[in-house]
Amino acid sequence: MTTKIALITGGSRGLGKNMALRLAENGTDVVITYHTKKDEAEAVVAEIRQTGRKAASMQLDAGDIASFDPFLEQLQTTLLTEFGRSTFDFLVNNGGMGATIPFAQVTEEVFDRFVNVHFKGVYFLTQKALPHMADGGRIINISTGTTRFCVPGYSVYASMKGGMETFTKYLAKEIGARGMTANVVAPGPVETDFNNAAIRTNPDRKAYLASLSPLGRVGEAGDIGGVVAFLCSEAGGWINGQRIEVSGGINL
Ligand SMILES: NC(=O)c1ccc[n+]([C@@H]2O[C@H](COP(=O)([O-])OP(=O)(O)OC[C@H]3O[C@@H](n4cnc5c(N)ncnc54)[C@H](OP(=O)(O)O)[C@@H]3O)[C@@H](O)[C@H]2O)c1
Repeated sequence: MTTKIALITGGSRGLGKNMALRLAENGTDVVITYHTKKDEAEAVVAEIRQTGRKAASMQLDAGDIASFDPFLEQLQTTLLTEFGRSTFDFLVNNGGMGATIPFAQVTEEVFDRFVNVHFKGVYFLTQKALPHMADGGRIINISTGTTRFCVPGYSVYASMKGGMETFTKYLAKEIGARGMTANVVAPGPVETDFNNAAIRTNPDRKAYLASLSPLGRVGEAGDIGGVVAFLCSEAGGWINGQRIEVSGGINL
């Protein structure tokens, strides 16, 4: 059987890194992208290669739509030369940033940056990547628990993720003819570098968020990656057009 290949945006750190490692553990070869942290991405690639799987890293700004065509051309070359295939199977739109900005202070510049990275970029990277994907593939868009419950200062971030969620349902409807699925994974608060490491560097905030969860803690990257790997597995193939919240049941 042909080894499956995943493309994960933002695989250099945090959740994307864990997704990459868990997919590799399941026997998938992986291409990760990084935005600024090339060394971290190379370290993830080295870790995956040590397990016997193939891996590569590439630079991508998920908000720079004009860069997607050259990025995908370069991906095509990487797939052929390093993976011996011309297509890939799983696209995980994960890369992105967070910020806590009260609604009254959101500038048009901030709005445009968030719309580009978390919505427009996901929309057009997926559109442009589809011809490079094999039939039967899977698309997973990483959203957030904050589309269901509200966190002050997340109006711009969560609104874009909400757009991404609606897009994912339409995507599932249109790509089904190719035997492909599309789903959303929506993590709750996870202790990563996200939003200037807001959870890690703020013990009071961490304790507060933990108190909102029936399980009494915030998430770890390891809580998320396995769910993405499952959605890319044979067992996950009948899940389609769904928003799967992976938050430990916060704010039930
Ligand atoms: N952590 C949470 O609490 C949480 C909760 C819900 C949803 N999420 C979502 O989960 C995803 C990953 O977050 P995380 O917690 O893993 O954050 P993180 O630890 O800060 O890692 C962010 C990753 O995204 C990449 N990235 C940042 N800006 C990018 C851009 N403009 N284009 C492409 N890639 C970019 C980073 O690349 P470099 O390393 O090169 O900078 C890094 O690999 C995000 O979409 C986030 O919205 C996170």
